Amino acid sequence: MRVHEWDPATATAAELEAVLRALNEIVAVDVPEDPPWRSRMFREYLSVTMPGERRTSWLAVEESGEILGHASLLALEDIGVLELSVVPSARRSHVGTALLAAVARRAAEEGFESVGVEVIGDTPSVKFFEAHGFECAFIEMRNLLDLNGVDWLRLGEMAAGISAGYRIEYHPGGPPESHYAAYAAAKEAARASVVDDLELRPSSYDAERLRASLATLHARGLKPYIVLAVHEATDTIAGLTEVVVPAQRPTRADQYDTIEVPSHRGYGISRAIKARMLFELRAAEPGLLDVQTWNALENEPLLQVNAELGFKPDREWREYEADVIDLLRRLKA
Ligand SMILES: CC(C)(COP(=O)(O)OP(=O)(O)OC[C@H]1O[C@@H](n2cnc3c(N)ncnc32)[C@H](O)[C@@H]1OP(=O)(O)O)[C@@H](O)C(=O)NCCC(=O)NCCS
Repeated sequence: MRVHEWDPATATAAELEAVLRALNEIVAVDVPEDPPWRSRMFREYLSVTMPGERRTSWLAVEESGEILGHASLLALEDIGVLELSVVPSARRSHVGTALLAAVARRAAEEGFESVGVEVIGDTPSVKFFEAHGFECAFIEMRNLLDLNGVDWLRLGEMAAGISAGYRIEYHPGGPPESHYAAYAAAKEAARASVVDDLELRPSSYDAERLRASLATLHARGLKPYIVLAVHEATDTIAGLTEVVVPAQRPTRADQYDTIEVPSHRGYGISRAIKARMLFELRAAEPGLLDVQTWNALENEPLLQVNAELGFKPDREWREYEADVIDLLRRLKA
């Protein structure tokens, strides 16, 4: 077995297919309730990043050429975010550890003090990262909504249940340019009240970053849908919800962020915009089966709204972190 750096941007189609097959073997064993990945825009998904960010990838390959594992390190501003997976048939032979060593060496070369990783609860990754000294920094719950089980009549009442003085807008593809500054301001205003996670996912707190992040989503095959609540008296954005439908997994939408600006809380905004989003998705994406979202365990108001909409808690999503120097020492890499 050999670990080598790999560039999905220039990889052959056959190589990408092999990586996709390996990923789907892993999904079938670790998260069998999740849909398999499809090849549409898989290359773009793996290779495109936000301007200023870099993703390095590695493959673990058997002498026969068979792919045993895949790893990547996304260099964000002050943390390296890693992803790592090994096909079920090759596990417990230290393939994962060899991939982690490659990642840790690069993280040190790039000057990162720490690396973070999102780990799915109830999978071997939890034991693996804990065995390598990673510490759990943040836990969220993934919630799933089966669109076949939605009570659309009740949902219609929820979508209409917003206080007077607010207007709901729907923007497939992303908010219009004219909203960029207000949209980013709403995110910034809500940021202070968000629980302090590791920020392993990109955020858009100014108009330029928002523009870049929308362009990156589209380039990776992730189609954004936005529903906003506008406070009519001040013409500001009081709340927003963002969903992405990936070309690689078109039956499952990811609900990224739902924000209520603190001064507009208590007016039924989250419930109404999330309900409206489900109607829009049903119309725009007829192939969609379910929607997944992630919530901090202590975010009571949003958990309550999700429960009313029919979301069901599914699995823990845990963020782990390790100090790079300590990690290298433990790995003797
Ligand atoms: C986590 C993962 C990468 C580990 O790969 P691996 O090659 O089996 O790991 P290693 O053999 O290097 O294990 C190193 C150490 O981690 C720990 N470990 C790994 N798997 C473990 C398990 N199933 N149970 C207990 N400990 C485990 C052990 O301490 C192990 O050392 P040991 O075998 O000498 O006791 C692999 O199980 C995997 O790909 N999991 C799924 C990834 C994922 O998130 N999938 C879902 C999204 S696609």
